[in-house]
Amino acid sequence: MPNTRILSLQAEHVGILQGRYERVLEGHGYDGLLISSGAAPTRYGDDQSWHFQGFGPFLHWTGLTGFEHAWLLIRPGRKPLLSVYQPVDFWHASVELAQEPWLAEFELCFSESRSAPGLAGVSRLAVTGDPSLLANVPGEHNSPGLCEALSETRVHKTAYEIACLAQANQLALAGHSAAREAFLAGASEFEINLAYQRATQQREADAPYNSIIGVNGHAGTLHYQYYDTTTPAKPRSLLIDAGVRYRGYCSDITRTTAGAEEGRFGALVQGLEQLQLRLCDMVAPGVDYVDIHRKTHLGIAALLSAAGLVSGLSDEELVSEGITRAFFPHGIGHFLGVQVHDVAGKPELSPADAPFLRLMRTLEPGMVVTIEPGLYFIPSLLEPLLSGPLGNHMNRPLIDELRECGGIRIEDNVVVTDTGHRNLTREAEA
Ligand code: GLY
Ligand code: MN
Ligand code: MN
Repeated sequence: MPNTRILSLQAEHVGILQGRYERVLEGHGYDGLLISSGAAPTRYGDDQSWHFQGFGPFLHWTGLTGFEHAWLLIRPGRKPLLSVYQPVDFWHASVELAQEPWLAEFELCFSESRSAPGLAGVSRLAVTGDPSLLANVPGEHNSPGLCEALSETRVHKTAYEIACLAQANQLALAGHSAAREAFLAGASEFEINLAYQRATQQREADAPYNSIIGVNGHAGTLHYQYYDTTTPAKPRSLLIDAGVRYRGYCSDITRTTAGAEEGRFGALVQGLEQLQLRLCDMVAPGVDYVDIHRKTHLGIAALLSAAGLVSGLSDEELVSEGITRAFFPHGIGHFLGVQVHDVAGKPELSPADAPFLRLMRTLEPGMVVTIEPGLYFIPSLLEPLLSGPLGNHMNRPLIDELRECGGIRIEDNVVVTDTGHRNLTREAEA
């Protein structure tokens, strides 16, 4: 059972959402919004289904991740109606609704049917959800303008959401610490994953995303998706990017550990961590997130020179010549919430110098972002530079040596406050 503070914040959260949604519905001329929780599709040509993770707007209201074929009806001036699908079924267990105070804020009904609940009294209905589940549902489905406005209601987190994100960080860090210990004790990626799951008490299907666990060269694949069952003869590095869901809310944390004998790589990990902490310190209201991304490139440039990986070029030249992008090809981070890459971060296309950046907004209190610089040795990105006109500025022997360590990423979850920021990850680690 969560603590009483979280439970009372949740009732307040529902009230805040009711206000936000009423304004959106009124602005778009609707007097009702039906939200589908979603359902896992069956795999083509098979009788097995994909893993289910609920639809964002449904999670935003309820935090109920495992509730397929449920519905939520939002109407101005009335309690939200939560309709839970509860068939008589001897193959599967029924979902259980914990008896918590937030349910008093809802009208609750249980249905043996997957159909939408009765919609009496709603004359202009909007509907949002996976289109494959809306075939027989009346109303206007997934209208882009409305969906954009609904996504915007998720940008400024309530106190309840921040408390959940903080708890998701706390839980994940127990996993990160177990994973690090397992790596240092010689565990394989597969065993490290088991250690993470055991410590977090969370099966992987329920996590916000599949954990990325790369030992040695695998750490250089940004979203490395396998788990090797054997330990390399010389474990040199571990990159683990893994989170936890708590009441629907995601953490998204990355830590990199150097093997005991990896002096140079270990120094690079420390250097990147110092940079990462400086970048976290930039998080404050009024700051353009794209500036944090651009400062990251200058920081990576300084680090590359200090480590002797490149020489004879200024930090600015290392950025403008695309050398930092070869070492740090992704964006500095994204919004975080009930989805790991939370919505509404990209009102426009990414700038040309940051094509993979998922967040391009000026920071405001209540936003929650990740700060996740990386420095990788990715052959397909580095080889063209090494064999090109700037190759003589690059230290190939050192790059070749560190390539076996794959790469580094360090990622924290940071809340923008009225005056600066709160780093939920470092707070939980302290
Ligand atoms: N875990 C994926 C990411 O950091 O964005
Ligand atoms: Mn992330
Ligand atoms: Mn991550």
